[in-house]
Amino acid sequence: MSLTALNKKALLEQEAHRLYGLLGSVSRSKGVKWSYADCLQAAPYTLAINQIKKEKNAVILAHSYTVPELVLGVADFSGDSYALSRKACEVSADTIVFAGVWFMAETAKILNPSKRVLIPAGKAGCTLADAITEEEVRALKAAHPGAPVLCYVNSTAGVKAESDVCVTSGNVFDIAAKLPQKELIFVPDLLMAQNIEAELKRRGVSKKIIASGGSCCVHDKYTPADVQALRRDYPGIKVLCHPESRPDVCAQADFVGSTKGMQDYVAASSDKLFGLLTEVGLVNRLEAAYPDRKFIWPFGTCAYMKKNTLANTFQALLEPRADQTVELPPDVIARAKKSLENMFEMSK
Ligand code: 13P
Ligand code: SF4
Repeated sequence: MSLTALNKKALLEQEAHRLYGLLGSVSRSKGVKWSYADCLQAAPYTLAINQIKKEKNAVILAHSYTVPELVLGVADFSGDSYALSRKACEVSADTIVFAGVWFMAETAKILNPSKRVLIPAGKAGCTLADAITEEEVRALKAAHPGAPVLCYVNSTAGVKAESDVCVTSGNVFDIAAKLPQKELIFVPDLLMAQNIEAELKRRGVSKKIIASGGSCCVHDKYTPADVQALRRDYPGIKVLCHPESRPDVCAQADFVGSTKGMQDYVAASSDKLFGLLTEVGLVNRLEAAYPDRKFIWPFGTCAYMKKNTLANTFQALLEPRADQTVELPPDVIARAKKSLENMFEMSK
């Protein structure tokens, strides 16, 4: 073996050790953890991505639902929708590589329009963002004059541009409660709209929510039977769910909150056993952060988020395709930005 080949082998092994330290307690599939051999396979990509990132003056923002080798191996920042949108505002590098779904990359472009925004997965959809068009929002506004439009961040730039305030899963209840109007239009998540109504009722606030009909194809699958099965099979378990789930599931959970909210709940808890009715990416993050705790995850994978891989992240950094580059008309950016800024203002 030549000296160069030996050096390359040593470098790959060093990278595989680094990855194994991060991913060793993470599930690769049900019941199977990341092995050193898995890390050795990922190592050429993570080395190359971390190198090209510097050369291209790029940062990688990754949603917690993307694959753990991206979140832990190459991302500069990872988090939930709200944290990622805040981070996108602060980026000073030339390029933002957004590992997530299309509406999230659009949000980064709206908030920091002078940057080049790339998404490795290309036009990766989301069953919520794809559930309503801006024309349909305009029709709702015409039918309910005076009712402000709250749009969940899982919406297209065009829908954000038609809305008064954007919200995320972390601030939706507080913002809905703060708005003075008695009638609100909420798009595009029907289950979250029902959860807003239930939460406002709990807070003693009476408001009518006019909703549209979308749902998340991951979180809408959970049923009360899943909560009951977790409690039956794992006595003492704490069950956590997302506000995109059905109200009858949320009513039975120990905690309902955003991806970050669930992370914070686990961080603050002294419990060791958690049932996560959410996307597997969050389970993986928690497994990495708390190797001494047990996280039970019945099912739930977002195929759109998982379209981001190490291979297409490298390719997007090297030579992005047109469908991996976010471009938006300036007037849409300006109007959509207002709804996001209103959210930041109302979250203070
Ligand atoms: P978060 O706002 O919790 O990041 O959720 C985004 C999402 O797509 C949930 O399905
Ligand atoms: Fe959309 Fe659901 Fe995937 Fe989140 S998990 S990106 S809401 S389809």
